[in-house]
Amino acid sequence: MTPIDHEQITSTTESPQGESQLATNLAEREHIEIDLLLEGMHRLYGYDFRNYARASLTRRIWHHVHSEKLGSISALQERVLHDRSCFERLVQNLSIPVTEMFRDPHLFRMFREKVVPLLRTYPYIRIWHAGCSTGEEVYSMAILLHEEGLLDKARIYATDMNNRSLQQAREGVFGIERMQLYTKNYLEAGGTRSFSEYYTARYQSVIFQPFLRKHIIFAEHNLATDRSFNEFNVILCRNVMIYFDDKLRERVHGLFHESLSRFGILVLGSKESMQFTGYSDSYEPLDRMEKVYRKIN
Ligand SMILES: C[S@@+](CC[C@H](N)C(=O)[O-])C[C@H]1O[C@@H](n2cnc3c(N)ncnc32)[C@H](O)[C@@H]1O
Repeated sequence: MTPIDHEQITSTTESPQGESQLATNLAEREHIEIDLLLEGMHRLYGYDFRNYARASLTRRIWHHVHSEKLGSISALQERVLHDRSCFERLVQNLSIPVTEMFRDPHLFRMFREKVVPLLRTYPYIRIWHAGCSTGEEVYSMAILLHEEGLLDKARIYATDMNNRSLQQAREGVFGIERMQLYTKNYLEAGGTRSFSEYYTARYQSVIFQPFLRKHIIFAEHNLATDRSFNEFNVILCRNVMIYFDDKLRERVHGLFHESLSRFGILVLGSKESMQFTGYSDSYEPLDRMEKVYRKIN
């Protein structure tokens, strides 16, 4: 890597080539600063963001630099390494916990139609939601299984690297203002009851019925660093790997392949696919449009 000094930067700005050289130098410096920040976070706190897709990671890091009222990524690195609470705020910022109940309702409708009949044939069902965020996707699945008469024989493992999101997921408390959207999604997803049966409203929040939670195990698990921990009939990992680079995506596909039982089902997000991964031959599409795959070898 070329070292960058101030003299070089000023002397290169006097021509168009100089300007482009300056831009290259700045990009190079940003790259180095981000590498050092991520290396430090990994070594000190064990959180590994080194193989996240660079463009969106860079935007989020800069956003965090500004929200901490700092002037550079190096200054952020200094604070992160000396102040755990700053590190925790950064993890929140990098975690992107956006989610909703019955997100992509057509997927849940398809799940009822094509996956549930397969699950009926099993004596016991284990489902893993990897990257479950604040739990909306998991409660949606618990409701679906309940309506299909499968919840009692199911164990749902809901994991995320973000402990704060997991805590909210465990509590099962969500903002009341979201219920209109969630009711609409639920009905589009093939819901057969009145959605409000599943929660009790309290001021500005709703709490979901405890019987739904009884079959869910919430636990911290980091897809970048942790190993497989059980065998599953279904794994859902939606809208998580879009933030990873090819190398990390490949690792996670390896983890899922190892963790799925024979003929197990893998559900990806609407913008994700098995294509171009080293595991594409190990699955057949159960529904190509919905990104639902069945492990065949
Ligand atoms: C956009 S949310 C997706 C939530 C839900 N699956 C959905 O589709 O609505 C992405 C989640 O992935 C989690 N995540 C990101 N990197 C992770 C990692 N290395 N290990 C586990 N979870 C991760 C984030 O903390 C966040 O909660």
